Amino acid sequence: MSRILVTGGLGGSGRWIVDRLAEEGHEVLCVDQRYAESERENVDVRVADLTDRGDVFDLVGAFDPDAVVHWAAIPDPLDHPGGEVFENNVVSTYNVLEAAGRADARVVWASSESALGFPFAAETPAPDYLPVDEDHPLRPEDPYGVSKEAGEALARTTVRRHDVPVVSIRPSWIQYPGEYVCLGNEPPEEGVGNFWSYIDVRDIAAIVVAALDADIEGHEAVFAVADENYADRETTELFAEQFGSVPEPCDLSGDDSSISNAKAADLLGWEPAHSWRDAADEDVDEPTV
Ligand SMILES: NC(=O)c1ccc[n+]([C@@H]2O[C@H](COP(=O)([O-])OP(=O)(O)OC[C@H]3O[C@@H](n4cnc5c(N)ncnc54)[C@H](O)[C@@H]3O)[C@@H](O)[C@H]2O)c1
Repeated sequence: MSRILVTGGLGGSGRWIVDRLAEEGHEVLCVDQRYAESERENVDVRVADLTDRGDVFDLVGAFDPDAVVHWAAIPDPLDHPGGEVFENNVVSTYNVLEAAGRADARVVWASSESALGFPFAAETPAPDYLPVDEDHPLRPEDPYGVSKEAGEALARTTVRRHDVPVVSIRPSWIQYPGEYVCLGNEPPEEGVGNFWSYIDVRDIAAIVVAALDADIEGHEAVFAVADENYADRETTELFAEQFGSVPEPCDLSGDDSSISNAKAADLLGWEPAHSWRDAADEDVDEPTV
């Protein structure tokens, strides 16, 4: 049993992470900017604005966690002013990672596939090669993507300064069982921003657990993405249709995801367990915080 502080633990995907960690018997402190009464004995909820450095240092110092899962952010640049997205995400990531480092706590945090720069680009460029992996350049042109790229720079700084391991998880588009909004028969141009990739929220909770357990030194960034695209088409066919050609080199077959999850498998021993084919209409219990 460990003491784990989870930021953004009342959010859409954060709830599933808190639920999973609590099920595994950890003592969880869930920090969010609003309050909800916990239904679990081993979960406490605290309200804080993570951009307030004093509050973050107080909370982390008092809880003295073994690990911090930093999941809070404004998760896209469309429904908030860009400057607010950048400021909220970067300042909160600085505060949380710096406080975790001072507490000698390992960190797992939510970066994003958006750090690549494709999802919110005015005009989606084709990737340099396929599948996209963690060596692909990051070229964000929007405030959300660059907030995640900056967060990864802060992750490396935290490692240098405090010598704690930090894993930057880069989720693809997160989907919820029974409520998938990406569907096999969508028009292909709608999914071009992340090249028709996605991840089930239960696989997100699982990769967070795997990253907390992994024997890692320093900083590692890993994509969290399902094995296949959600378009139910050959991936190269989708690229040819949308971009006029398939980026080369290309090592994809069938409906393989255009973003690779091989590093997550090698480094963390994690593989996605859920596919849109079953999960889109699956009936599962809501997570309990
Ligand atoms: N949803 C996706 O498809 C997706 C994909 C890639 C990465 N991510 C990342 O995963 C994480 C969770 O995404 P989500 O979709 O569950 O988002 P969400 O908006 O549902 O949850 C985010 C939570 O963070 C909290 N939060 C934000 N700023 C805060 C602050 N300053 N202080 C305290 N709490 C704050 C919010 O109150 C909210 O509960 C985010 O970091 C996001 O960038 C999401």
